[in-house]
Amino acid sequence: MHIGCPREVKPQEFRVGLTPQAAHEAVHHGHQVTVETGAGVGAGFADDDYLAAGAQIADSAAEVWERADLVIKVKEPQAEEIPLLRPGQVLFAYLHLAPDPALTRALTASGATCIAYETVTGAHGGLPLLAPMSEVAGRLAPQVGAWAMQRANGGCGVLLGGVPGVRPANVLIIGGGVVGTAAARVSAGMSANVTVVDRSLSRLNYLDDIFMGRLITQFADSATIAELLPQADLVIGAVLVPGASTPRLVRREQLAGMRAGSVLVDVAVDQGGCFETSRPTTHEDPIYEVDGVLHYCVSNMPGAVSRTSTLALGNATLPFLLALADKGWQRACRDDIHLSHGVNIHAGHVTHAAVAAAQGLEFEPADRIIAA
Ligand SMILES: NC(=O)c1ccc[n+]([C@@H]2O[C@H](COP(=O)([O-])OP(=O)(O)OC[C@H]3O[C@@H](n4cnc5c(N)ncnc54)[C@H](O)[C@@H]3O)[C@@H](O)[C@H]2O)c1
Repeated sequence: MHIGCPREVKPQEFRVGLTPQAAHEAVHHGHQVTVETGAGVGAGFADDDYLAAGAQIADSAAEVWERADLVIKVKEPQAEEIPLLRPGQVLFAYLHLAPDPALTRALTASGATCIAYETVTGAHGGLPLLAPMSEVAGRLAPQVGAWAMQRANGGCGVLLGGVPGVRPANVLIIGGGVVGTAAARVSAGMSANVTVVDRSLSRLNYLDDIFMGRLITQFADSATIAELLPQADLVIGAVLVPGASTPRLVRREQLAGMRAGSVLVDVAVDQGGCFETSRPTTHEDPIYEVDGVLHYCVSNMPGAVSRTSTLALGNATLPFLLALADKGWQRACRDDIHLSHGVNIHAGHVTHAAVAAAQGLEFEPADRIIAA
């Protein structure tokens, strides 16, 4: 199989779909690999790293798309990439099609098979190709929150870990899933006072067990959140209701009761956000202030640490990439029902129930095509 990896063209996207390590594995499995020149630069990988791994370097994206049977990338194809897709080709990337009818139409018209990272499921539950990015964003949230709390950045001037004789920051984490747990780990590791609220009692049990008294867990009813907000220096929004917009758990009028210069980091802003006052921001201009409270609402936080994010994503995608390349997508999906859940589009048909339902489109079950 010929695997291709073009450079990402979405603005501010510094990750790359294939690491040199993954390229090396693919070559070792007997596949040909072509990477667009400069594709890895944003993540700290030079063309020479790919050449050393046994890959070839192409001068243009068009050359990569033309050669490849299987294209691996990070973000959904952009306008200039769509015409490069062809019938029979396999695309493996984040697609997020449900809210995007235009992209769904374009990918359907391409005739290609499009496998979306975000709908591949895990044998033990969860979404294994989304989780690494939640791990990154969760660990990054206290880091950016601590930076925003610095006085020169407009914050309250509180040091996350405090010092002997001076209390540390109070960190409130709303939602104790992958993001929330990672945020709790880093906050607690930096000696903050950490409280995690969630509506899942099993999740609170789990957190209580693994942190062994290092944080407080509370049930996430609105009265508890209202009581905790005025004491918090840093609030991290990490809620997810699968398939739905994030519930707004902090209303604008509640900001008035918070400390001046306290910070809200809304990791969940990509799904609408947990705070009424959240709106997506970018890495160039990440912070804004509402009623004396700073908001950090970057919707692609992992992009800030493109090297770590690329390596983490590469670790997660590699087994699926190898299965797709070694067996061909149909047999790989027949052998692994979780990978088959990633097939969103095939040969002009929408093959994912949720994508079809979100857009009122006809749905051709992927398992029927895979069995054929
Ligand atoms: N901004 C970014 O760059 C970025 C990066 C990665 C993930 N995210 C987003 O972070 C969010 C969290 O992702 P995750 O992987 O941790 O999800 P997850 O499913 O692992 O965790 C979500 C948690 O929210 C809890 N929850 C649901 N409703 C709640 C409520 N009303 N009150 C309190 N808790 C509630 C759930 O019980 C669960 O424990 C998602 O919206 C995800 O898209 C954003």
